[in-house]
Amino acid sequence: MDTHTEKLEGTPQDRVIIFDTTLRDGEQALRASLSRRAKLELAHAIARLNVDVMEVGFPVSSPEDFMSVQEIANQVRGPRICGLARAVENDIIQCANALKSAEQSRIHTFIATSPIHLKHKLRMSLEQAKTSAIGSIKLARQYCDDVEFSCEDAARTPIDDLCFMVDAAIEAGARTINLPDTVGYTTPQEYAFMIEQLRNRVPNINKAILSVHCHNDLGLAVANSMAAIQAGARQIECTVNGIGERAGNCSLEEVAMIINTRKDLYNLSSGIKTQEIVRTSHQVAQICNMPVQANKAIVGDNAFAHSSGIHQDGVLKAENTYEIIKPSQVGIKANELNLTSRSGRHVIAHRLTTLGYSEQEYDLDQFYQQFLNLADKKGAVYDYDLEALMYNNLLEQAD
Ligand code: KIV
Ligand code: ZN
Repeated sequence: MDTHTEKLEGTPQDRVIIFDTTLRDGEQALRASLSRRAKLELAHAIARLNVDVMEVGFPVSSPEDFMSVQEIANQVRGPRICGLARAVENDIIQCANALKSAEQSRIHTFIATSPIHLKHKLRMSLEQAKTSAIGSIKLARQYCDDVEFSCEDAARTPIDDLCFMVDAAIEAGARTINLPDTVGYTTPQEYAFMIEQLRNRVPNINKAILSVHCHNDLGLAVANSMAAIQAGARQIECTVNGIGERAGNCSLEEVAMIINTRKDLYNLSSGIKTQEIVRTSHQVAQICNMPVQANKAIVGDNAFAHSSGIHQDGVLKAENTYEIIKPSQVGIKANELNLTSRSGRHVIAHRLTTLGYSEQEYDLDQFYQQFLNLADKKGAVYDYDLEALMYNNLLEQAD
């Protein structure tokens, strides 16, 4: 039994493999490619998240990318380091060369299988694509035990054609079969059905791990990935902050926290150190020059901020009234209670206590009216505004 088969058989069924592709599919989408130094810095950060596999580049695409993959393979330890290669001999040889010094490596090779891609992009038949796939997988296996094969545009590939390709790829030695929704077209029901069909119809399907790779063109990348996981896929390909081609890829932090928060529903786990999530998100946003929207789930500035008085009152009484994740779980010290004219008395009294004022020092009803007047004028009220109001009151009392 080769080492990879041992690993597959040792992978518990309740464990989801997290395959990060921030530095490959994510980087591909940036206005400017990352420098080698930036990629190495991010590779170390992503390794700290404890992803299982990290796809770090497409070595044949440029000499710089080749060197970047080589450098990461040489220096980053922990996750398995993966490189991308088309189903083309030179791509695979370059990829294998770049990965040589990795402790654990994976070659990820792919070819399109959908009628649209076969006809217009590759100008070949499915049979020809199958021949290329088999040759490439066998070649990759000469360099590496761990070979992943992707049917590009799988979600728009007729299911019979997909079964035909997947069967051949497993037979040729691919140990992970990835079914990308390359253009973000599918829906959760359709995607789950595709996984079920493959599991029912491909005889050797249990020799491979089924993987999902979803793009977010219809905003469904995370939902599609989770539907596929429920249908039996066990690897999710994703990126930090969901960066990637067009509308992006499935977001790593969202799937990690869904798995973590909804154990009751999925009964699954991942190896992600969730406390590293926000820190890594900030690094990716900054280095990639891709700011995160404020209302982005898990990592947006507002993800743990409460504004309405009713919510603030609830959270002060018991956090789980309006928080399904503790901020500390993703590496944030505390939630944020914004002070606006929607805030209530309770949060003002609480904030004044935090600032060191005792209840005897002010009249809450009077102070709250002053706060509301200010909030209506100013919009956001900060701690230093509260201090100024307090100070004015003290001066008036002294007069
Ligand atoms: O979206 C896609 O199909 C890809 C493949 C290369 C895996 O990124
Ligand atoms: Zn992709």
